Amino acid sequence: MAKIVVTDGMSKDAVRLLEKNGHEVTLQSFSKEELLQGCLSDFDAIIVRSATKLPKEVIESTGGNLRVIGRAGVGVDNIDLAAASDAGIAVVNAPLASTQSVVELTIAHLLASIRHISKSDRGLRLGKWEKKIMTGTELSGKSLGLIGFGRIAQGVGMVAQAMGMDVHTYDPYLPPKVARNQSTRLHKDVDDLFKSCTHISVHCNLTDETHHLVNYERMKLMPGKSRLGLKCGNHIVNCARGGIVDEDGLLQALDEGVISSAALDVFEHEPVDPEHELLNHADFHGTPHIGAATIEAQSRVGTDIAKNVMDSLNGRAVKATVNSHLLK
Ligand code: MLT
Repeated sequence: MAKIVVTDGMSKDAVRLLEKNGHEVTLQSFSKEELLQGCLSDFDAIIVRSATKLPKEVIESTGGNLRVIGRAGVGVDNIDLAAASDAGIAVVNAPLASTQSVVELTIAHLLASIRHISKSDRGLRLGKWEKKIMTGTELSGKSLGLIGFGRIAQGVGMVAQAMGMDVHTYDPYLPPKVARNQSTRLHKDVDDLFKSCTHISVHCNLTDETHHLVNYERMKLMPGKSRLGLKCGNHIVNCARGGIVDEDGLLQALDEGVISSAALDVFEHEPVDPEHELLNHADFHGTPHIGAATIEAQSRVGTDIAKNVMDSLNGRAVKATVNSHLLK
């Protein structure tokens, strides 16, 4: 029997699964101070989403008792992987569970941007009937640039192609065959992707390499018109990780009309500051990091992470280990 603490919530089915397998589950969130004072040393495993941050100091404070960190989701940027590996703590995640939900949110943001859905709604609530100025464009016939070409990007690409878009990607780690199989044009140079696409959607991890990869200079390269010459403007969507889009650069690009619309589900600092200037920009709309926030995804995430944490605790092969290659 292991003691497992769940700090950012988890589906009831997943909690029941852990308990049915004889584990003691504690649902509790901790302050930064409590985490630094070693409160996790009472547990064998912790399951987090993105709210709980596990930097080196917190990991070191567990004094060798914590054995497994489960990340209920994909991104592990809230966990210091090197520190976990040094401490012999396995980090496992649930990378497949939210794919479809993030694909659908990305498409929703793309459509909401070009058809002014949020902007129209804001106007309606103020009693405005702005039919003419809400004229949008279609996705069909436009070019979509996907930064990163993992499962989510491939899903977005398939829907976009079904809607008549040309799909391009920049992913320096992608075997060219994968892009070819998906009828997607792979660019070796990220600037070429921006030069070729009127719509850019971000689907990579946040790393030193991708920090502010979407910046003012690159946005200025975007063509603003379709291959048939239709002036459709330039559009940016990010449902991956905050910090990949440079928010100051984005604001400048929106102010200058370099970018016609921007939609972010993720921000460099979350929760986003309500005074953030982007939130006041007419051509911006956002959501509060809800890519994986569907009943279906959360149910799958919960079950997957519960199974992966139990497998790791029991020394069985885990489907999604993040740091097995680093463990000492
Ligand atoms: C993820 O990495 O799984 C998503 O961004 C969802 C989340 O962090 O809650």
